[in-house]
Amino acid sequence: MEITGKTKIMFVLADPIDHVRASAVMNAYFGSIGDDLAVSPIHVLPGDLGHVIASLRLMRNVFGFGVTIPHKTRVIEHLDEITPAARLIGAVNFVKRTAEGCLVGDNLDARGFIASLAQHEVAVRNRKVLQVGAGGAGRATAFGLAEAGARELIITNRDDGKAHALAAAVAAHYPATKVSAGRAEARSFDLIVNTTSLGMKPDDPLPVDIEGVGAGATVSDIIVNPAVTRLLARAAAQGAKVIGGNPMLDAQMALVARFIAR
Ligand SMILES: NC(=O)c1ccc[n+]([C@@H]2O[C@H](COP(=O)([O-])OP(=O)(O)OC[C@H]3O[C@@H](n4cnc5c(N)ncnc54)[C@H](OP(=O)(O)O)[C@@H]3O)[C@@H](O)[C@H]2O)c1
Repeated sequence: MEITGKTKIMFVLADPIDHVRASAVMNAYFGSIGDDLAVSPIHVLPGDLGHVIASLRLMRNVFGFGVTIPHKTRVIEHLDEITPAARLIGAVNFVKRTAEGCLVGDNLDARGFIASLAQHEVAVRNRKVLQVGAGGAGRATAFGLAEAGARELIITNRDDGKAHALAAAVAAHYPATKVSAGRAEARSFDLIVNTTSLGMKPDDPLPVDIEGVGAGATVSDIIVNPAVTRLLARAAAQGAKVIGGNPMLDAQMALVARFIAR
């Protein structure tokens, strides 16, 4: 890749930085569509976020930046505008810098997630979904699932209060979906989604008991690394359809390209 003064520059802001893959995925995507755009991860500590963003605002060849753990929520106070989707989810994962230097945040996680299911021919409309996790990504997937027409959505989380708060927020916005928080047996669901970080480390326990889940059900794990988590390996061995986190990230690339286009 040749980076010149004509190249559009983007960054991915993170702390820690080692796990970041979005920059590589973005560089590969923009290279594949012949766009002269280069992306670098930058290691930004939470206390420095405001200073870094104020500086990015002044850099005229910066077209935008991605934000990941732990900046997705705190970034909002440093932006000029956020989209309705980002407001609903309460988090931003991509920011565009307009030609005038305004910073606009969006959240593409939900649309990327639903697009990844559609690419694997997994229908959400009228389906019964068990979601594990109610963190930043879990908020996005829950709103995405309701928007996509899930008939029923049960949200389970270690911190039960967060699951209840998310269920209430989704139910208020999407009354057609029956949303609740609590525990449930995975075998009675069409789609089981892990949005927790359990599975990133090899010795993590499974985020959900999938005993009895087999053919006819889909298990999705949004963890990107490893590409096949223990949950997915177990689900595949039981005959379920499985989808990892990479398709969700990949699906966001076309959305980013459209979002940052000036
Ligand atoms: N594929 C993609 O495009 C994509 C996009 C975004 C995120 N992700 C991945 O999604 C995962 C979560 O990210 P996030 O931004 O939502 O993180 P987060 O906001 O920190 O949320 C973490 C979630 O995991 C749960 N959790 C963490 N440790 C746990 C444990 N020991 N036992 C039970 N539950 C535990 C948390 O439960 P509590 O609420 O109880 O703490 C919470 O629900 C990460 O692996 C991230 O890389 C993937």
